[in-house]
Amino acid sequence: MARVLIVGAGLTGSLCASLFRRELSSKLQVMVWDKARGAGGRMNTSRSPHDPNCTADLGAQYITVTPYYAEKHQSFYEELLSRSILKPLLSLVEGMAPKEGTCNYVAPQGISSIVKHYLADSDVLYDRHVTHINLKEGKLEVYSKSGPSEMFDAVVLTMPVPQTLQLQGHIETFINESQRQRLEAASYSSRFALALFYKAGTQIGVPWAANYITNNPCIRFISIDSKKRSLESPEVGPSIVVHTTVQFGLKMLHKDKEEVEPLILDQLRQVLPGLPRSTSTKCHKWRYSQVINAVSNCPGQMTLGVQPLLVCGGDAFTHSNFDGCTESALAILDVFKCHF
Ligand SMILES: Cc1cc2nc3c(=O)[nH]c(=O)nc-3n(C[C@H](O)[C@H](O)[C@H](O)COP(=O)(O)OP(=O)(O)OC[C@H]3O[C@@H](n4cnc5c(N)ncnc54)[C@H](O)[C@@H]3O)c2cc1C
Ligand SMILES: *[C@@H]1O[C@H](CO)[C@@H](O)[C@H](O)[C@H]1NC(C)=O
Ligand SMILES: *[C@@H]1O[C@H](CO)[C@@H](O)[C@H](O)[C@H]1NC(C)=O
Ligand SMILES: *[C@@H]1O[C@H](CO)[C@@H](O)[C@H](O)[C@H]1NC(C)=O
Repeated sequence: MARVLIVGAGLTGSLCASLFRRELSSKLQVMVWDKARGAGGRMNTSRSPHDPNCTADLGAQYITVTPYYAEKHQSFYEELLSRSILKPLLSLVEGMAPKEGTCNYVAPQGISSIVKHYLADSDVLYDRHVTHINLKEGKLEVYSKSGPSEMFDAVVLTMPVPQTLQLQGHIETFINESQRQRLEAASYSSRFALALFYKAGTQIGVPWAANYITNNPCIRFISIDSKKRSLESPEVGPSIVVHTTVQFGLKMLHKDKEEVEPLILDQLRQVLPGLPRSTSTKCHKWRYSQVINAVSNCPGQMTLGVQPLLVCGGDAFTHSNFDGCTESALAILDVFKCHF
């Protein structure tokens, strides 16, 4: 059995883990490490500190499927729909550009439930921030901030590309000049997200479930998250998610979220005057939000080394949504099938 490490418990890493388990389980022993304390990555579902049942999607909001990918990734959608991990988006989203033939899905249990589904039965360690990768006796020795280093026969890196480029050790010599240039050219938007959690029974008096705001310098998107997911219940309070504009995100990128949160709240009160008082809030800085320029000339993945196998993937090698991550995971699976 070859020991394989997947770095990143986001959608790409969790899909890789699931595909390896289904298609290569006789050959690979797979582990997943993530620096965070839970699964999801940019598919983050955050809980209210007062009620674990009151949740908000801080990153990805819903899954939009074009007819092309509905067919190409049909088996993935069928599986998630049959288990009610995805359901059609039924509520009103104001300002969403309608596109011919596309379909929108929400994850009623929170967007991270998609990632958790793919990670079920996987060996996952959280709080494992990978810092160095070295070559040793024909294997890859992987170091993390906590815990001892471990040896693997193959490694898949799924974090945003700038974070891959921060890794130290021999990995720096794996990446040749042309690869480094293409990786460095990948770029991402940045934005802040703010979740507001409310007491059970609170009424948020707006007719929509989500709204794309076009005339505010700070706020781009507001979701009444519980309503978006058709979760309204008398026992659990509603939640709201606010995404800032990319322009605001860039301008405030060097500031701490604690400093930025009151600025967003202030603008929110101007956009939605009369909003009730929340019981708690959570602010998140998405330094790497969505891919603007993907890595050129390597659809789905880039193979940095063959002996031992070192591959990087993620939405930077395709595009920033469910289908982009699926394309990347399938490309990585192909590399592993050829290799093992
Ligand atoms: C605000 C926002 C809104 C979005 N809206 C949508 C949407 O509506 N629909 C949609 O389909 N997509 C949306 N997206 C895009 C979507 O979320 C991403 O394309 C997708 O989640 C990327 O998954 P990934 O696994 O490639 O990367 P990530 O989710 O970033 O996963 C990488 C993982 O690696 C971990 N990691 C990083 N560095 C290390 C390290 N050194 N050691 C260990 N672990 C590490 C991170 O903790 C993370 O969990 C949105 C994204 C954001 C931020
Ligand atoms: C999700 O975001 C919240 C708020 O920033 C953070 O506390 C939590 O650790 C994140 N979860 C994961 C799994 O990354
Ligand atoms: C949360 O939901 C679960 C399952 O629906 C339920 O059993 C539990 O009592 C709820 N907890 C709270 C604090 O409402
Ligand atoms: C860089 O590495 C890739 C993959 O190993 C290889 O295909 C390419 O030819 C190399 N380029 C240079 C300039 O060495």
